[in-house]
Amino acid sequence: MSKAAKILSLGAIMPIVDEALDARFEVFRDTDTALDEIIGAHGDEIRAIVTRGRSPTNEALMARLPKLELIANFGVGYDSIDAAAAARRGIVVTNTPDVLNDEMGDFTVGLLLATVRALPQAERHLRAGHWLDRPFPLGNTLRGRSIGIAGMGRIGRVIARRLSGFDVPISYHARNRVPDVAYPHYPDLKALAAAVDVLIVVLPGGAATRNIVDAEILKALGPDGILINVARGSVVDEPALIQALRDKTILAAGIDVFAAEPHVPAELIAMDHVVLVPHVGTATHHTRGLMANLVIENIISWFSGHGAVTPVSETPQRR
Ligand code: 8YV
Repeated sequence: MSKAAKILSLGAIMPIVDEALDARFEVFRDTDTALDEIIGAHGDEIRAIVTRGRSPTNEALMARLPKLELIANFGVGYDSIDAAAAARRGIVVTNTPDVLNDEMGDFTVGLLLATVRALPQAERHLRAGHWLDRPFPLGNTLRGRSIGIAGMGRIGRVIARRLSGFDVPISYHARNRVPDVAYPHYPDLKALAAAVDVLIVVLPGGAATRNIVDAEILKALGPDGILINVARGSVVDEPALIQALRDKTILAAGIDVFAAEPHVPAELIAMDHVVLVPHVGTATHHTRGLMANLVIENIISWFSGHGAVTPVSETPQRR
């Protein structure tokens, strides 16, 4: 293994990752020292970036690190990284696929049920002592609903598999039909939204999907429609969602991801027909531990000359 290769760490990753990297590499953290200062002193020698994805790893940053070989993302979604620019520069990008699929499947079903059955609202009712005065009102049901999943990748499939036990029809949107998935396919997102009354968004973030769930899609989802977003805040036009919830264009929403995290629009916080959680889809000791291990394995394998373990599709495997 290259002795003490220099690594730039962007954002607070996880102690287990920090410890593993500190034992083998020289790590510079923008949580300790200003990025400009790190690059000024070590930019010419930094060979890898490990990132939490909270700040952009764009071509301008890559250009300041001429020896950069590897960008290891903590997370499956790598929309904060310009992977096309990395590919052009021969830099390999890795992410953490698969190890979080089951967690995301469980979580998405949980958020769906919490939203449909208004569980946080019911709990707030109890805690506020209102039960002593009046029962919690009758609410919505999953019974008779049909589910549309926007995005039928690795996580979308697990969500579908989980939901197949709930006796609800399932269909999906993806640009192309997924060969071994038997659920009805809608190449057009609006057509899917019009056909279902629950739309689960699990599309990757990035330029291709920015604000793809807009006012028109929400209108197609309709007044009994429920939106569940576990993908990226950028995928949903947030002002359009606020408007649609406000004027009852849709019924309710369950949201884990926001356009400008950790900032959540006050309008959403003020609404009672939404369930809002702070990007916790994978936030368990178990799954974040698996993600951390995969980040470490990618970096160690790379610097041991064995290549990356889970490179993303856009970037070449270079050793
Ligand atoms: C994490 C995620 O919250 O994997 C992803 O793409 O969004 C989540 O698992 C995040 O990447 C870590 O901060």
